[in-house]
Amino acid sequence: MELNPVIETLLNHRSIRKFKDKPLTQDQVRTLVKSAQAAATSSFTQSYSIIGIDDPKIKKQLRAIASDQAYVEHNGYFFVFVADQHRNRAVGEKNGAGTSVLDTTQRMIVALGDACFAAQNMAVAAESMGLGICYIGSIQNDIYKTAEILRLPEYTFPFFGMAVGYPDQNPEKKPRLPFDVVFHQNHYHSELSEESLKRYDQEVERYYQTRTGGTRRETWTGQITRGLSLPYREALRPFFKDQHLGLR
Ligand SMILES: Cc1cc2nc3c(=O)[nH]c(=O)nc-3n(C[C@H](O)[C@H](O)[C@H](O)COP(=O)(O)O)c2cc1C
Repeated sequence: MELNPVIETLLNHRSIRKFKDKPLTQDQVRTLVKSAQAAATSSFTQSYSIIGIDDPKIKKQLRAIASDQAYVEHNGYFFVFVADQHRNRAVGEKNGAGTSVLDTTQRMIVALGDACFAAQNMAVAAESMGLGICYIGSIQNDIYKTAEILRLPEYTFPFFGMAVGYPDQNPEKKPRLPFDVVFHQNHYHSELSEESLKRYDQEVERYYQTRTGGTRRETWTGQITRGLSLPYREALRPFFKDQHLGLR
């Protein structure tokens, strides 16, 4: 496999959930946001916004929403990635254009995608600077409250946060699915290789045991199956409707 510093950074990713008590500088924050902005964006719409959170009170409030995960409060900096059609709506309205196209599923997907591409650019930039990151989807646990705290207007969705900072832990890399399970040649192959999954389950089980000193015994297929038992974050659907996202 070909390696270079960028690919090595990508292959070395692991989520960091404990940071040193050292804030990022304004220059670092700017570098990260500029890197995020350099990502590709569907039809050049740039349908996302990034909210930088350094107010300890707001961090604390977001931590409470995010299942009390300490690293939402304690990090070098906290970003929230917002899928954002509000700005483009304002542009359209200013120019006297009808803006109902922003309510469509297609535009919602564009905004969600744009937020992801920007975020992952930031993640890679941060890791290339020796920083660590953790995505925080659990700001969606109380989506209305998150939107209220961040004073989000209609046509926006707070997709996830990203805690960034100097790592104060060095976790093992979390094993990914075998190459052949994820990569399909020419067309989709529905049959799953039992043997590959079994081997992968053993690998994941060993990973969790090492990470938790033997207290967590879990396989990947077990985790996926458990996740199917309950619907999750059901307020998202009404929230999207209220925000005029994906209505048609
Ligand atoms: C959209 C998204 C949301 C996530 N939300 C959380 C979260 O709320 N809390 C957390 O600890 N990790 C969160 N993660 C991190 C994942 O758990 C992690 O990426 C995954 O288990 C793989 O582990 P790794 O990043 O260490 O390789 C999130 C990741 C993504 C992409």
